[in-house]
Amino acid sequence: MKALILSGGKGTRLRPLTYTGAKQLVPVANKPILWYGIEGIVAAGITDIGIIISPETGEEVKSLTGNGDRFGAKITYILQDTPAGLAHAVKIAQPFLGDSPFIMYLGDNLIQNPLLPFLEQFKQQQLDSLILLRPVENPTAFGVAVVGDRGQVLKLVEKPKDPPSNLALVGVYFFDRTIHEAIANIQPSPRGELEITDAIQQLINTDKKVESCILDGWWLDTGKKDDLLSANQIILDERSTCKIEGNIDGDSKIIGRVKIGSGSQLVNCSVRGPVMIGDNCHLENCFIGPYTSIADRVTLIDAEIEHSVILSEATIENVNHRIVDTLIGRRAKLTTAPQRPKALRFMLGDDSQVELA
Ligand code: TTP
Repeated sequence: MKALILSGGKGTRLRPLTYTGAKQLVPVANKPILWYGIEGIVAAGITDIGIIISPETGEEVKSLTGNGDRFGAKITYILQDTPAGLAHAVKIAQPFLGDSPFIMYLGDNLIQNPLLPFLEQFKQQQLDSLILLRPVENPTAFGVAVVGDRGQVLKLVEKPKDPPSNLALVGVYFFDRTIHEAIANIQPSPRGELEITDAIQQLINTDKKVESCILDGWWLDTGKKDDLLSANQIILDERSTCKIEGNIDGDSKIIGRVKIGSGSQLVNCSVRGPVMIGDNCHLENCFIGPYTSIADRVTLIDAEIEHSVILSEATIENVNHRIVDTLIGRRAKLTTAPQRPKALRFMLGDDSQVELA
């Protein structure tokens, strides 16, 4: 059994962050999203992992993630020249996959359930494909499945205008080698991509065994800001612990589960967990509220922040309002004059979003 993680793509929904970096490397609770997927796959006993990368962000994914040693896995990187669809990614990975069955995992997805029970079902029932489904409120935004009473998949539709069910396809799929032939027999969709839903539909049309499981745990597709903040909240809620390595002065107060990395300094700050603060940060006169992750080398002075993700080397200074539900990119600077500002002055990248709420 092998695994194929898709970490290429365009990442349009997470611009401007994705102009300069891979969306799969945006940290959730200070760990790249992609790494949760790798860890989940290794926990299911699969250590031969291929990762699809793009020409734009591939080097960054490679240099941060490495050859797999840190996960107890062997990672092979596969370059996809253009983001021509999920099934296209499988097609170009065929030399790596060979005849092996595999898990396909979308590198910006997180699921709560462990993968092993699904893997066992896939193997025991000798399926051609097992897909995971979750009921959603807005099925028009997803690939949607119609299933029979035993969980057999009858039909799949990509982003339907008139959804035949509310069961969305989660970004984790199990395939055996029959998927390659199915992909060879499909054409690009109207949006110009080789769709994995069309390939699975092709399996169904040729009487292959395609079954589904309904996920009972949470599933997050972190490709958008609010989903990423939800993922950060859930992971901090479930996994954060108390660990203080940095220096906290006598005027600071730490409540709840708070992690502060080495070399970080807190002066006159109040931190209410769950919160994660990376290494070598400087925080002065700040309130940091629940569900905030602050990456390494961040400077925060006279600021109040909660339910937010701040990436490395960002600076926030003298902001007289509480910052909430916010995602701040690497090296971004947010400052105001010490007195109440009379004007707002910005230099924002393309696709930036500012809400003065
Ligand atoms: P999507 O989030 O569906 O696509 P995208 O990355 O192009 O993002 P957006 O819609 O914001 O423009 O992709 C799901 C995952 O699969 C994601 O981790 C990127 C990856 N992917 C590839 O590796 N190759 C591809 O050709 C495509 C379409 C996606």
